[in-house]
Amino acid sequence: MNSFADLVQVRRSIRKFTEEELKPEELQSILRAALMSPTSKSSRSWHFIVVDDKTLLEKLSRCKEAGAAFVADAPLAVVVLGDAAVTDVWVEDASIAAVTMQYQATELGLGSCWAQIRNREMADGTPADDVLRFLLGYPQNLTALAIVAFGHPAVERKPQDEEKLKWENVHINNF
Ligand SMILES: Cc1cc2nc3c(=O)[nH]c(=O)nc-3n(C[C@H](O)[C@H](O)[C@H](O)COP(=O)(O)O)c2cc1C
Repeated sequence: MNSFADLVQVRRSIRKFTEEELKPEELQSILRAALMSPTSKSSRSWHFIVVDDKTLLEKLSRCKEAGAAFVADAPLAVVVLGDAAVTDVWVEDASIAAVTMQYQATELGLGSCWAQIRNREMADGTPADDVLRFLLGYPQNLTALAIVAFGHPAVERKPQDEEKLKWENVHINNF
């Protein structure tokens, strides 16, 4: 990867992974990137739970009705949590950390995909956050934003198509 300009173009959501584990230094880089990400008033209120236990990953993948199945087949996932008691913008802080990890993973040649947890439910209406709290044991002051799955890509995805960028959504000085 030559530059950030390349990185943003080649990052795509990857939902199929090989069996290969992440190296400890790859995980370290990904978490380092999260911990360096910007937060409002430098509150750094986020928490990250690294999950590499296969049985647990499978349970995580069923914490909402749809859209998290790929987590079961990832070698590793990071659950990104925020603390609403510390900052009213925990969603932004946690989102920035999550996506920063994704770009770091891309630079390392790894794939990743975000599974939305906040505002998502099981088919019976149980909040996905409650399911994760039960499985992972985090305290009531924290809320899960997302699970980000990481692994070696088992599929190739095309880089972002330069021709399809929504430049019409960019407005200069006036809408
Ligand atoms: C806030 C957010 C929530 C997302 N939630 C999910 C999800 O629950 N399940 C999933 O498979 N992908 C999820 N994604 C990934 C998007 O589907 C993906 O980024 C989008 O389709 C664009 O594709 P690309 O990432 O390959 O460019 C989410 C992405 C974002 C930013």
